[in-house]
Amino acid sequence: MAAVLGISGEYHDAAAALVVDGAIVAAIQEERLSRIKNDPRLPLDAARACLAHAGLAAGDLDRVVFYEDPIDKLERVLVSTLRTFPRSLRQFPRAIGAQLGGKIWVIDRLAEQLGVARDRVTSTAHHLAHAASAFFVSGYPRAAVLTVDGVGEATSTALWHGDGSALRELGRIEYPHSLGLLYAGLTAYLGFEVNEGEYKVMGLAAYGQPRLRDEFARLIRLSGDGTFELGLPYFAYLADAELGFGPAMEQLLGPRRPPHRPWDLSSAADQRYADIAATLQAVTEDALLGLAREARRRTGESALCLAGGVALNAVANARLERESGFDRICVHPAAGDAGGALGAAILGSLELGDPRPAALTSAALGLPIDVAAAAALAGELGLTVRRSGDIPGEVAGRIAGGEIVAFCQGRFEWGPRALGCRSILANPADPESRERLNRAIKRREPFRPFAPAVLRDRAAEYFAGAPSDLTPFMTTVCPIAERHREQLAAVRHVDGTARVQTVTPDSAPELAAVLAALDRAIGMPIALNTSLNGAGEPIVGDATDAIGFLLGHPIDALVVGDLVITRGAA
Ligand SMILES: [Fe+2]
Repeated sequence: MAAVLGISGEYHDAAAALVVDGAIVAAIQEERLSRIKNDPRLPLDAARACLAHAGLAAGDLDRVVFYEDPIDKLERVLVSTLRTFPRSLRQFPRAIGAQLGGKIWVIDRLAEQLGVARDRVTSTAHHLAHAASAFFVSGYPRAAVLTVDGVGEATSTALWHGDGSALRELGRIEYPHSLGLLYAGLTAYLGFEVNEGEYKVMGLAAYGQPRLRDEFARLIRLSGDGTFELGLPYFAYLADAELGFGPAMEQLLGPRRPPHRPWDLSSAADQRYADIAATLQAVTEDALLGLAREARRRTGESALCLAGGVALNAVANARLERESGFDRICVHPAAGDAGGALGAAILGSLELGDPRPAALTSAALGLPIDVAAAAALAGELGLTVRRSGDIPGEVAGRIAGGEIVAFCQGRFEWGPRALGCRSILANPADPESRERLNRAIKRREPFRPFAPAVLRDRAAEYFAGAPSDLTPFMTTVCPIAERHREQLAAVRHVDGTARVQTVTPDSAPELAAVLAALDRAIGMPIALNTSLNGAGEPIVGDATDAIGFLLGHPIDALVVGDLVITRGAA
């Protein structure tokens, strides 16, 4: 029986996760506490918060596991820099400086700053941590596992076989050939921020047609066995880590799109960028499909687990569900690098002889919202605070009336999605609510859809293919049933799909109760559910963040536990 802390960080999405006696006790991204989006620093506050939540001290930890091997990573940076010399000359001082300037001493720093004996701090391999995060919480006894990201140490893609408490690597593709870096390079080319704008590219893709197959055949070559190679001259990350694409890319596809220019999809120029996004999405899906089919062939398994940043591509996951031949597919809710912290913790726990964790049914693994603190702060600020005996009924009534409600309940979520613990809820049938959300709060590009949350046992009435193992954590998209397409206007993407979240009283009890009340109020157990954060901000963590959000944004009410907080009279 052991207490094991897993840590990710030093690149982006730092996080800590705590596993005690084989049970997942807490998992927290540093950004939720520091309020710095994708905070990459060592997640000391998240680590301490996990320990405090469990009533443990650093001295109680049997093991701390860092999510990648700092020495292997240094070697990859050195080797790839030397291989591409002199093109890589510009990147060399920065890359090596970043490694020598602290990253390879991360184990020592972790031990010292957490107050844990040095011999209790170890590291694991980056893709093994991703694979563990996906397979060991899937509940599948055996499965094929694919990990696909930008790059960890030297690997960008790996295939595994999971069986009980064991994971065995069957093959890998190494940097610089990487679907994550392909997607990142084109994300930058399209004028979006890398590691942040990939969702926008996916949304934009639905507005275009994959017309640039010939050009993309030069960017990535897929072979029949699931492997692929990038056309390296088009990518600049060997020479310039920040840009991700080189001048050859602009010669091939035309000039890059200037960042921040407002989108006008009726213009020929922006339509071409949408076509580029559509082609990128199609090619990424083809590559993932090739990998998944190979995974099925090599393992003979009927279940597939996915992790790594590329696994957050919900549209691609939907295609895998339809075409890969696997009966069941699941994706870790924090499939990006944050999730590596939980994978690392589970690996440490298994190594110390504890059992494999139970299947993850809820992402509410963060810190609980302090209802009393919210009441006190709201009172101090002169806000109207009222206790309600019927929160589900009140929230449903407000939403039905066209209001936008911020909804904070229990522990905040693990991963990039708000799943009913720190959510903004609105009427899924009201385009005006969506417009107001977009205009005044989220300031999203017009092509990014909002998503519906639906009661799991009613999902099939509204969404084809739901529920599945991918719907609890919003890692797939489903076509909206024809007869409800018109009605679900506020959560419908241009192609008639929606990124569905299925909800049960177990996974998110408070949201489930609101959905049941909405069924009575609007005739559908469905809410528009989007994350509780302003543009470019991390999702709300504690009561202070929540009330700050109410003060800074034109929402109609903030619900915290059984409190209804509003700006005006009650
Ligand atoms: Fe990764």
